[in-house]
Amino acid sequence: MRQITLITGASDGIGTELARLMARDGHDLALVARRRDRLEALADEIAAQGRPRPLVLPCDLSSPAARDALESQLLAANGQVAWLVNNAGFGLHGPTARLDRALQLDMIDLNIHALTDLTLRFLPQISAARGGLLHVASIAAFLPGPNMAVYYATKAYVLSFSEALAQEMKGKGVRVSVLCPGPTSTGFQKRAGLDAALFDAMHPMNARDVAQAGYAGLMAGQRVIVPGWMNKASRVLAGLTPHALLLPLVQRLQERRKA
Ligand SMILES: NC(=O)c1ccc[n+]([C@@H]2O[C@H](COP(=O)([O-])OP(=O)(O)OC[C@H]3O[C@@H](n4cnc5c(N)ncnc54)[C@H](OP(=O)(O)O)[C@@H]3O)[C@@H](O)[C@H]2O)c1
Repeated sequence: MRQITLITGASDGIGTELARLMARDGHDLALVARRRDRLEALADEIAAQGRPRPLVLPCDLSSPAARDALESQLLAANGQVAWLVNNAGFGLHGPTARLDRALQLDMIDLNIHALTDLTLRFLPQISAARGGLLHVASIAAFLPGPNMAVYYATKAYVLSFSEALAQEMKGKGVRVSVLCPGPTSTGFQKRAGLDAALFDAMHPMNARDVAQAGYAGLMAGQRVIVPGWMNKASRVLAGLTPHALLLPLVQRLQERRKA
């Protein structure tokens, strides 16, 4: 059996950087996202460094049938998932009533459904291998987000689910960590419809540093990982501020970020 580290959303941003870091440490990877060409290029880059060439498994994770096919492909490759990085996700910016309904439901399918499905499918294999799970939420998980309402709510789910799972897995040899980045320079902001200049004014972190914090936190057995001091401060402030004050504040901030 091949002990696999499965990384979703590996074709860009934080997922690509996590793949590079984990490959460097000897993880045998399976790379998942929709854009095959980018996954192949990353697999070539990793193989060129003398590492095992990752499995390239293009897949639209929001489709349940595609997730079934993904599991079959892993089985056919004699792969046992020992580590799972549930990183794929996207956001949408704008008032909920005006954003496209199907797109908002797609977001729930990817950010919540796919993440939960992969976790439930592979948890027995991960437990047997005494491996672990790294889920990518966001600092959006710590507060409600008017003008990105569904996105923030999906990330609150990821945080809650991951923390509870971490508790259930305690003492069972399986690590469960949840990474909560703040603004990070990746493909995320373009897909979400965020203004590039305003996003840059928020001093985004780079994807490499965020991935490094996530990977180090996972290996250290940290339950919740918040990279960067600004994000740590935002988390504390969000916890201390009453929602009556926080809601209009976040709404104003988000209104300014529209592309
Ligand atoms: N960037 C930020 O400011 C920020 C802040 C907090 C949290 N996050 C979270 O970080 C995670 C990674 O995002 P990122 O910032 O690295 O953004 P990104 O550069 O846009 O990467 C997103 C990844 O998800 C994949 N993906 C999107 N839809 C998919 C689908 N239906 N099926 C399979 N794969 C899909 C994309 O690949 P394909 O397009 O090839 O499918 C891509 O590899 C997300 O969960 C995001 O919510 C980001």
